[in-house]
Amino acid sequence: MAIVIIGVVKEDAPGERRVAATPDTVTQLQKLGYEVVVAPGAGAASGFPDERYEDAGASIGDADAADVVFGINPPTPERLDALRPGATLISMLNPRLRQDLVDDLAGRPITALSLDAVPRVSRAQSFDVLSSMANIAGYRAVIEAAHEFGRFFTGQVTAAGTVPPAKVLVAGVGVAGLAAIGAAGSLGAVVRATDPRPEVADQVRSLGGEYLAVAEPEADASPGTGYAKEMSDDYNARAAALYAAQCREVDIIVTTALIPGKPAPRLITAEMVASMRPGSVIVDMAAGNGGNVEGSVPGERVVTDNGVIILGYTDLAGRLPAQASQLYGTNLVNLMKLLTPKRDGTLVLDFDDVVQRSMTVVRDGELTWPPPPVAVSAAPAAPPEREPVREREPERKASPLPRRLGVAAAAAATFGLIAASPAALQVHLTVFALAIVIGYYVIGNVHHALHTPLMSVTNAISGIIVVGALLQIGAGNAAITVLSLVAILLASINVFGGFAVTRRMLAMFIRS
Ligand code: NAI
Repeated sequence: MAIVIIGVVKEDAPGERRVAATPDTVTQLQKLGYEVVVAPGAGAASGFPDERYEDAGASIGDADAADVVFGINPPTPERLDALRPGATLISMLNPRLRQDLVDDLAGRPITALSLDAVPRVSRAQSFDVLSSMANIAGYRAVIEAAHEFGRFFTGQVTAAGTVPPAKVLVAGVGVAGLAAIGAAGSLGAVVRATDPRPEVADQVRSLGGEYLAVAEPEADASPGTGYAKEMSDDYNARAAALYAAQCREVDIIVTTALIPGKPAPRLITAEMVASMRPGSVIVDMAAGNGGNVEGSVPGERVVTDNGVIILGYTDLAGRLPAQASQLYGTNLVNLMKLLTPKRDGTLVLDFDDVVQRSMTVVRDGELTWPPPPVAVSAAPAAPPEREPVREREPERKASPLPRRLGVAAAAAATFGLIAASPAALQVHLTVFALAIVIGYYVIGNVHHALHTPLMSVTNAISGIIVVGALLQIGAGNAAITVLSLVAILLASINVFGGFAVTRRMLAMFIRS
């Protein structure tokens, strides 16, 4: 059986520094049974010279003529001409917006898989290059903004004066938006974020940001695709009011709003930019896709008349080329694992698998684009039915009848026992009974997750047993002395054990 060769091309898009395989991922591709040919200098701009690929077992040569061709950017017609008949091209092809490329591919005797058409299902996450690249790009957008911004991100109190923290607004909380929130927050900025999908609010908060809801969020903002749909005019008008107010307050804006297959929604108008303070920075991550910000220019740094810097860079992921190439290459290895079920260097395309079907643009010369739609699990759960408005405070959930009867019987028995006890014991029994009731309500209202730390600290209260036992230990009665010793031993285990558990739990929150 002929050995299947994977070719890794040298990207020809201007300014592109990434490469579709690194020496590490070449090794993993060989373990799947493939041979790898890398184009001369393909990894040089990412810091991977040809020798590193050779050391990893690849050869340097004509990658375009391989059986399976790996690339990053959509290929030029010349590059397509270089493919041999029967070849499989795996690259980002942008088929939703590049009808010209789809038409060109349709007439060729090849198979073409588009990495940017992978559906957002959890099974396909490991080769979702849009997510891995957007993650890097969101981080880099904040780094670019910090580089341009003339102040700290974090607030500081110094002998030379007090510095307020920078305020950052992130518009669009997808993969890039979440990465931007995380990066800006870790630099110490105050971060706010907004998105029409209300389900992202918790994710924003979990990263330390504040979620700004556009009043009355859009019903069904994410129609089961893992992506947002186009918003109504009414929503956009309310969102515009929010952006106008935020522009007057914040120092940095990162916009990432995207609706797949559509030009980017316009969020920030020139008027809003004009209302920002001089020195403020906007990173329009969607600049290459039509732009979320009026006045942004793809690939350019623009300074407005009022001194606001608008960055429209379209190569943000490529600005971390080694990292981006490594993640992209790993995405491709994961895809090849799916396409090589026997790990024998034979590529098998299974059209019964929705993931493989969705990313195939052309199969053996037959046009298969567009694929049938795929509903994904990332769709939000249906909101619970609204409770009817009640006129008074809702009552606590009632206990079942047998339980209530049991509690009533226990209370009656306790009162009977106290009444029948000698006077000296009555006080102790009353305190004991009250302690049970109070303890039940106090512990019962503490969240379950906090029971362990609560108990470990309240165990220390057992110290009172130690005090009581110490007072009794010298009573001269052997039985009392033995009982006191046992009480001291057990109570000490409780006290010290409680502190040991607390210490262990606290250690889990201390960074090494
Ligand atoms: P994503 O689909 O994960 O996130 C996009 C978010 O925008 C979604 O949460 C969506 O709900 C939100 N959105 C849609 N309409 C909106 C509206 N009207 N207002 C506010 N939010 C809205 O996309 P991902 O992967 O995070 O990418 C974000 C953007 O970054 C895309 O435009 C992508 O092309 C771009 N990108 C840019 C790079 C660069 O170098 N400049 C590199 C990588 C990605």
